[in-house]
Amino acid sequence: MEFIREYADWFYLIGAVLFILTLRGLSGPKTAIAGNRYGMIAMAIAVVTTFFVAENPVVWMILAAMAAGAVVGIARARTVPMTQMPETVALMHSLVGLAAVLIAVAAIIHNNKLVELGPDLLAANGVTFHEMSKVHLFELFVGCFVGAITFTASVFAYGKLAAKKWAKTISGGWVKPVQALIFIAMLAAGIHFFLTGSMTSFWAMTGLALAFGWVWIAPVGGGDMPVVVSLLNSFSGWAAAGIGFTLENNMLIVAGSLVGSSGAILSYIMCKAMNRSIINVLFGGAMGGAAAPTVAAGAQVQRNYRSGSADDAGFLMSNADSVVIVPGYGMAQGRAQNAVKELANLLKEQGVTVRFAIHPVAGRMPGHMNVLLAEADVPYEDILEMDEINSDFPATDVVLVIGANDVVNPAAKDDPNSPIYGMPILEAHKARTIMVIKRSMATGYAGLDNDLFYNDKTMMIFGDAKKVVEDMTKAINGTGH
Ligand code: TAP
Repeated sequence: MEFIREYADWFYLIGAVLFILTLRGLSGPKTAIAGNRYGMIAMAIAVVTTFFVAENPVVWMILAAMAAGAVVGIARARTVPMTQMPETVALMHSLVGLAAVLIAVAAIIHNNKLVELGPDLLAANGVTFHEMSKVHLFELFVGCFVGAITFTASVFAYGKLAAKKWAKTISGGWVKPVQALIFIAMLAAGIHFFLTGSMTSFWAMTGLALAFGWVWIAPVGGGDMPVVVSLLNSFSGWAAAGIGFTLENNMLIVAGSLVGSSGAILSYIMCKAMNRSIINVLFGGAMGGAAAPTVAAGAQVQRNYRSGSADDAGFLMSNADSVVIVPGYGMAQGRAQNAVKELANLLKEQGVTVRFAIHPVAGRMPGHMNVLLAEADVPYEDILEMDEINSDFPATDVVLVIGANDVVNPAAKDDPNSPIYGMPILEAHKARTIMVIKRSMATGYAGLDNDLFYNDKTMMIFGDAKKVVEDMTKAINGTGH
């Protein structure tokens, strides 16, 4: 054990390098499993090393906390459906934020206790005591308020994504002034604590930061929640890094910074995919912007569309040269990925070129479609990102849209009045024939009607994604009747 203590910094360095390799691995589907393994090893090194580095650890408490965390974590990991992943992630971020607050509180209370005991008593008991430096107070101040904001904001994001009644979106002219007021009061209390070390100011700052997290995120529309979750991921990383300074733990500083910067980069990429600025996402709702628009009551006009059967669609596809499959949230909801893969394989056997087109925000979390297709063993080379495939649509015989809606809505390109105008889309409307599988003419996540469904080239095939795709496969196999 002495060995681990002596070489702790080396172990932390190895852990930090492994965390960097983890991120590198997770950047592509082929290397993701290796990336995950690096992460597990790095985390094990971090936990074991920290366990032995700690001065006078209360072993039973640490073990009990680890056991409780492991039980809850394993149970959740085994039971969480893929569709509930975003809210689970939001809930996990809230715990990182809460941990940052609790550590800051513990560090300050501990310090105050030592001050109370007085230097003489401490010296008599062999405890060396250093007055808390200003740098230390600053770390605590930042770690604590970022952690507190992350905590309540993440709890709200969880509630919103899980459609809980208490997570109500707030709006109105009062929101922005209240946000500003709480923020300024929080900073003032924090600065007072920093200058004087006053505990009253510390508690006030923490309470105001908790309140700010809530009023800050509550006006953000549901459609923007994924960006918020990714931003909170970034925040939780910075809070952890701040606390790493407090605990003088290099590993936590490095890991926190990696989480902080990768979360920030992901938020930026998602904003770009939705053609929004981060400021617009975070303050658009409060400024009265339409973050999650819905079709106004009475605005629905009866429009004509063409519908067909799975048999017709199967026949058309098996006679095509090229088919591009556009999966969306409905494929995840209907758990159709395996059926889709079988259909794709069958078409390929018939000489059809089959590829998958993935929109960056298709589904309900970043990489949602990639994860499902990987789970169904769809070859990576058949899966193309939006920028890679968009120019191929005009030369594509059939586009098969499976439970996607917003990500193929041409209004994003053609209608300057549409709330999603400017968002890049998969240009499925340019293909020679379009087939759309969904259960009804209902809107998607953004609550908008979709001109693609009324296009002359489009055939709607109504039904649950899995059932319809299975029926198509049967039709092509000639076993449908
Ligand atoms: P959506 O626009 O949400 O459309 C999904 C469509 O699937 C719905 O219109 C629904 O129509 C259909 N559907 C649902 N269950 C089905 C089933 N079992 N079988 C067949 N169809 C089914 O999905 P999208 O095109 O993937 O776009 C994603 C949207 O979610 C975007 O607005 C995006 O901004 C937002 N969002 C994205 C994320 C991330 S990071 N990916 C996270 C949160 C929100 P029916 O009800 O008629 O079947």
